[in-house]
Amino acid sequence: MTKEIEQLRSQRWFAADNMRAFAHRQRTQQTGYKRSDFMGRPVIAIINTWSEISTCHVHMRERAKFVKEGVIRAGGHAIEMPAMSLGEVMVKPTTMLYRNFLAMETEELLRCHPVDGVILMGGCDKTTPGLLMGAFSMNLPAIFIPAGATLNGYFKGQKIGTGTHTRKFWDEKRAGNLSEQDWIHLESSMTRSFGTCNTMGTASSMTSMAETLGFSLPGSATIPAADSAHPRLCSTAGERIVEMVFDDIKPTDIATFKSFENAIITYMALGGSTNGIIHLIAMAGRLGIELPMELFDHWSRKVPVIANLMPSGEYLMEDLFYAGGLPGLLKQLSKHLHLEQANVNGLTLGENLKGVEIYNDDVIRSLDNPINDRGTIAVIKGNICPNGAVMKPSAASPELLQHRGQALVFENHAQMTEIIDNPELEVDANTVLVLKNAGPLGGPGMPEWGGLPIPKKLLQQGVRDMVRISDARMSGTHFGTCVLHVSPESFLGGPLALIETGDWIELDVPNRSIHLDISDQEMSRRREQWTAPKPKYPRGYGAMFSRHVTQADQGCDFDFLQGNETIDEPEIF
Ligand code: FES
Repeated sequence: MTKEIEQLRSQRWFAADNMRAFAHRQRTQQTGYKRSDFMGRPVIAIINTWSEISTCHVHMRERAKFVKEGVIRAGGHAIEMPAMSLGEVMVKPTTMLYRNFLAMETEELLRCHPVDGVILMGGCDKTTPGLLMGAFSMNLPAIFIPAGATLNGYFKGQKIGTGTHTRKFWDEKRAGNLSEQDWIHLESSMTRSFGTCNTMGTASSMTSMAETLGFSLPGSATIPAADSAHPRLCSTAGERIVEMVFDDIKPTDIATFKSFENAIITYMALGGSTNGIIHLIAMAGRLGIELPMELFDHWSRKVPVIANLMPSGEYLMEDLFYAGGLPGLLKQLSKHLHLEQANVNGLTLGENLKGVEIYNDDVIRSLDNPINDRGTIAVIKGNICPNGAVMKPSAASPELLQHRGQALVFENHAQMTEIIDNPELEVDANTVLVLKNAGPLGGPGMPEWGGLPIPKKLLQQGVRDMVRISDARMSGTHFGTCVLHVSPESFLGGPLALIETGDWIELDVPNRSIHLDISDQEMSRRREQWTAPKPKYPRGYGAMFSRHVTQADQGCDFDFLQGNETIDEPEIF
């Protein structure tokens, strides 16, 4: 269905013959635009998560200019609107506390302004789902432009990945194997340009899934931030969004259960971040689409990891770009994908994959030559996590996937930090480290604390991985046998809250189970003695978050933001 200019929602602000429309035109001219620059043109919002403190996005102010050029070339009028930047590294306690804030901000920026279509600019972890969740709820034509990954890092001739090697070298430093001078040298070697993490962490997982869902132009997710293809992508997206407005192509025309299934299949082949499961469930929830956790486990068993990228593999995003990019990977997955699903460029996934080639089959493997057969996501259930937990077998130690050990319990992150390096700590390589009160409410915001550090005394003995259990998340860039997202969380009195140091715990990833070896009577006794912690926030955004955030198995969206009911357009007066 096509739309005429008079039918666009921006015209309600600009085209009427009344005093209010006069004010809208007059105030727009105040910014230096002529009447003809915006009258009779679709208005495109550029929602930009640029900020100087969000270092992954620091180039996007400049990139917005290329988007604008594209919009104007295609006959539109572009307005840049800043939104919360959510730089993963700087924001405390965690960006996850604010993903829904960004989603709300995106939705309401679009609702309250004269906007016909939107370019979403993000990429650092939570910005991709946050922007898309808001755009899905508003359901205006939308294209997502990923920030692009930073260039490959190198340290002493070795290829190093953001996040993945931070933890690895930190462990070596704590073990006494890395000098102070090398640690300082590493600081300036790891990140060679602006852009998002160059490993298959949460950022690249989410941008790849946004493209697979159909919301980015083909190839977008793997263009490095510093490559000249990136500004060209921005201007192309600017041109295309104007066409989408007239063609009235909305998110609900693109995102379907099948396109989400495509995203899940791609997620598994990429060895994507465990955070992806939470975000995809939340994103789909905005469209009234349910994604059971079992669906992720199903595709994880069926589709092996074929992207040879850290933390599961050896290469980085820049290598994936040269090897054929995400389209190359999708080509390898064709037999599993719903190829009839639409992309924002107006073609189907199958049409977009015609002519795509792979230039390095060690980076993009074939399905019969995966980098390992352990799978990206295992959904685990048991008496510790009746509503489920997740882990990433592909980034875990194979010998720990079936493990029985005694718990060492930390009541919270602060206590863990205080004692983890104590030489007197009673711990050995078989111990199961348990962290409580790190979930959506307990963290708060479910910080990425799930990759608990290995105790220093064990690092010095050469131990580099242990079984760890928490209701926290883990950085997608990290490696480790970590059971995450335990639901319900301990802060709410989930069974995780009842584990005590010395309890035996049995993990069996192949059979997707975890078991706390105490009797039901003992469990009941401990439950009766458990007292609920005090709420963390007496007021403010945190109080709203605490009242409305859902648990990990439901995507941690706010309950009042879920669903796809239509909201009336604002009255203009
Ligand atoms: Fe921004 Fe990793 S810190 S993507």
